[in-house]
Amino acid sequence: MYSLLKNVHSYWAYLILGVLILSILNAVVGKIKGKDFESKDLRLSLFGLIFSHIQLLIGLVLYFVSPWFDQWGNLGMKGVMNDVQTRLYLVEHPFTNILAIVLITMGWSLHKRQSDPEKKFLRIALFYSLGLLLLLIRIPWNAWLG
Ligand code: HEM
Repeated sequence: MYSLLKNVHSYWAYLILGVLILSILNAVVGKIKGKDFESKDLRLSLFGLIFSHIQLLIGLVLYFVSPWFDQWGNLGMKGVMNDVQTRLYLVEHPFTNILAIVLITMGWSLHKRQSDPEKKFLRIALFYSLGLLLLLIRIPWNAWLG
């Protein structure tokens, strides 16, 4: 169960980063070129939203079944916070990524409230970029690609 979830979470991350980058580039180009916001634009941004929500769910379950979680009991709050690795897995990665997904969700809802295509593209470009930035700064890169 644990290694299956960890593998899915690990591969799903490629998918998310890819789709987010595509949505952002698409929104930036759409805004700059003054394009209409079409159904393909809606679909691409929706994929970004859905994929990141699925990752959130997988991450939440993984959190409790991962051996890292036992470190709360072994080290205590202070010990977890004093160790760079455990702090990354148990505190920084989850919280930063939840915040990233909140931003992505905000971008999605804010774009829906606009009717002007330029404003729609801008909301997606801005909020998805902020979300992506947060994801990138707290991915455990060494474990992932190492
Ligand atoms: C879009 C959001 C997220 C992305 C892109 C992401 C990406 C990743 C990546 C690439 C890894 C390393 C996997 C590996 O070692 O092969 C990882 C590990 C992990 N993630 Fe996430 N994650 C996200 C959200 C979350 C959330 C919200 C939680 C928890 C609430 C979470 C919990 C974990 C845990 C516990 C591990 C360590 C698993 C282990 O090595 O035992 N992740 N994540």
